Amino acid sequence: MKTLNLLVVCTMFSTAPLFGQRQKPEPLYDEAQVPAYTLPALLITEKGKAVKDVTQWENKRRAEILKSFSEQVYGKTPGKKVLLNFEQQSVDEQALGGKATRKQVRIFFGKEKSRHMDLLLYLPNHVTGPVPVFLGLNFTGNQTIHADPGILISTRQTRYGNDPGYRDGYATEASRGLRARRWPVEEILSRGYGLATVYYGDIQPDQPGTFNQGVHQLFFKRGQEAPAEDEWGAIGAWAWGLSRAMDYLVQEPGVNPRQVCVLGHSRLGKAALWAGAQDSRFAVVISNNSGEGGAAITRRKFGETIQAINDRFPHWFCGNYKQYNNREDQLPVDYHQLIALIAPRPVYVASAVEDRWADPKGEYLSLYHAGPVFRLYGLRPLEDPEPPGLERPVYTEVNGYHLRNGKHDILLYDWSNYMDFADRVFGR
Ligand code: GCU
Repeated sequence: MKTLNLLVVCTMFSTAPLFGQRQKPEPLYDEAQVPAYTLPALLITEKGKAVKDVTQWENKRRAEILKSFSEQVYGKTPGKKVLLNFEQQSVDEQALGGKATRKQVRIFFGKEKSRHMDLLLYLPNHVTGPVPVFLGLNFTGNQTIHADPGILISTRQTRYGNDPGYRDGYATEASRGLRARRWPVEEILSRGYGLATVYYGDIQPDQPGTFNQGVHQLFFKRGQEAPAEDEWGAIGAWAWGLSRAMDYLVQEPGVNPRQVCVLGHSRLGKAALWAGAQDSRFAVVISNNSGEGGAAITRRKFGETIQAINDRFPHWFCGNYKQYNNREDQLPVDYHQLIALIAPRPVYVASAVEDRWADPKGEYLSLYHAGPVFRLYGLRPLEDPEPPGLERPVYTEVNGYHLRNGKHDILLYDWSNYMDFADRVFGR
């Protein structure tokens, strides 16, 4: 694997005194100060053997990398199958003024029917037959993705509970459509795609110390209250939830089960990548501004670091991941390998220029450095070691990338490119 000869400068963090408080490192945003790093080899096994074909990749090297991500990064996803029950809560074949069929399904986990998540699905009415679908988790409740009065309001307590549209921790009518800018439902439908979403808090609350309140409980041993050091954290749980949503979608007659694109923004982009790496039923995987612990190369110490993410979000990754605080170089993997786990299925990565915390260049480089695995399959990855310019999307049939103007967010511009890419992948 190539060594990247970037300038080595040791003063990565500002040392300005903070009035006697413990000094918090300032993020590194100066490209010239990014220290040199060497990525862990993609196509050399732990025993030092070169991987030359798909069989060696799939049987040996891919398995090694998947194991490292499982045990050292996101934590192991339980293998035990959970019985699912789908309960249709509402169907409206004339939703959105007749443009869509809206289905809402409660997906129960386990026999007790104690835990569930609510899936909202829109299918376009102007096309017949099973359609391709985008599946993504949302941050604030299904009713926030569109003002559609037919969407059932989430009754879960939320961490956004004091924001406008919420009262005392719970969503109110006023929360309808609050995040509509992130979900261009009409545009998605008009292009012949369906859209499925689930509130991520239905799966696991996004707060430290809450593993007794989410799906982890379904797998705990008697008396267990928190995951062991190598067991899954919250991102692992959200990824698991995406696969359970997929269990529903594959049997839904209106959905083409071979054309489900999983996508996510930010922490939910990390979850989408991890879901895509573990579950080959996802046909296309899309990372929107997923940054550190998602698409970004962690050895490139630009923006957020492992220490910064573990300090603020100790529940996202597994316990073992804490060992790599300020020791990125010791991590057996880097995030180009996460993308390589998804190959040969197509992967799209998107960044926003003002989202320096997520390291746009590092997000591009992961995709670029995953290229050799796509090549093993005879596919054409992105060839340019330099990211493209602002709003100049680049695609091949298996990789896509763009750098949007503006901030950390997911907007129509991003979605339009995802749909263009999916059109190309699915030959539409
Ligand atoms: C924080 C965090 C990021 C994460 C983002 C989000 O900024 O540091 O890693 O992607 O939240 O999920 O919005």
